[in-house]
Amino acid sequence: MKDFKDKIVFITGGASGAGLGQAQVFTEAGAKVIIADMNRQRLNEAIKSGAADYAIKLDVTDRKAYAAAADEIEKVYGEAPDVIILTAGVNVFGPAEASTYDDYDWVVGVCFGGVVNGLVTFVPRMIKKGKGGHIASTVSWGAFGAGSSTAPYSAAKAAVLNLLESYYNALKPYGIGVSALTPANINSHIYEAALNRPQELSNTGYNVSDKTQTFLASIHKNGLDPKVLANWLKKGIEDEIFLVIPYASGPRMVEIEMERFRYLAYPGGEADLAALKATPERQAESLQMMAEREGYDVSQRPMAPPPPPADGDAPPPVFSFDTGGFGQAKADVEWVADDKKYKG
Ligand SMILES: NC(=O)c1ccc[n+]([C@@H]2O[C@H](COP(=O)([O-])OP(=O)(O)OC[C@H]3O[C@@H](n4cnc5c(N)ncnc54)[C@H](O)[C@@H]3O)[C@@H](O)[C@H]2O)c1
Repeated sequence: MKDFKDKIVFITGGASGAGLGQAQVFTEAGAKVIIADMNRQRLNEAIKSGAADYAIKLDVTDRKAYAAAADEIEKVYGEAPDVIILTAGVNVFGPAEASTYDDYDWVVGVCFGGVVNGLVTFVPRMIKKGKGGHIASTVSWGAFGAGSSTAPYSAAKAAVLNLLESYYNALKPYGIGVSALTPANINSHIYEAALNRPQELSNTGYNVSDKTQTFLASIHKNGLDPKVLANWLKKGIEDEIFLVIPYASGPRMVEIEMERFRYLAYPGGEADLAALKATPERQAESLQMMAEREGYDVSQRPMAPPPPPADGDAPPPVFSFDTGGFGQAKADVEWVADDKKYKG
């Protein structure tokens, strides 16, 4: 799809962060943008700012409400959307072995279940409309890797990526394109999600507090601007690209990220991979790519305290980096190794 003028574009999570940036960019391209989100106040602000044409309060995990939202769109605009962008998502982090059912049900429910609900609701309607179209989702760089403290989120995003590829192949005969957008760090409000999670899914194994989320906010401050990210997606849709990696080194990045599997498939492979990663060329390349993804030079912002000075040297700069126990287990999860538990 090259021309978005008067196209009906539906965006979940459209009231904040990546979704709001997408609303702004597609509105500027002449589309009639409908944003759906749980956050009524931010929906109102987005409409007031002119970022979108229409807003629907929707919890993407609520299938009945999703169908009602699709009916409402057809009533107001006379037809189903031409483009759907499934961006609503949440995250919370902590050691995999501390994860509770609530951690899975909430994160996977929104990040994966919300995308499933969007596809099951809208794909039949888009096919029946018979004008082709495009489906995209804001996945995550996390889809490519397994994180020992991001398990439910990484698993949900990996599942979304795989699911989208299935639809990419399935929907070609209908002229419906599919794209997966895989950003790393975005300048957004996602750090608020864990503090606002639903009461009935709030039994977490992770240490979450205002302090952990303030730390997370300090990371996201350096993230990709949502409108810049949205322009990567727009270009990806125009070029009919499935995998939209919003970085200049994108194809090489994903090549490096996925190569681990061949090393995990034979005895001694992990040692071979460690040796490859330790080469100066690979280290330099990895650091440069990490800086591209995270928005800062990670080698200048160590997670561990700097080494003590050699005799006579000036003391190293002190990085005050209070994580508040971000990514750690709650103190009372007794089976988790001591150094993975918050003791503050
Ligand atoms: N922030 C990052 O660094 C980052 C990186 C990679 C991918 N992502 C993904 O980008 C997407 C957008 O997140 P963001 O970073 O812009 O965060 P954000 O919190 O600024 O925006 C997400 C929006 O989704 C809404 N939302 C959450 N749960 C919902 C639900 N059940 N139903 C409807 N709306 C819901 C929130 O109210 C919010 O407005 C997410 O899927 C996230 O996983 C974020």
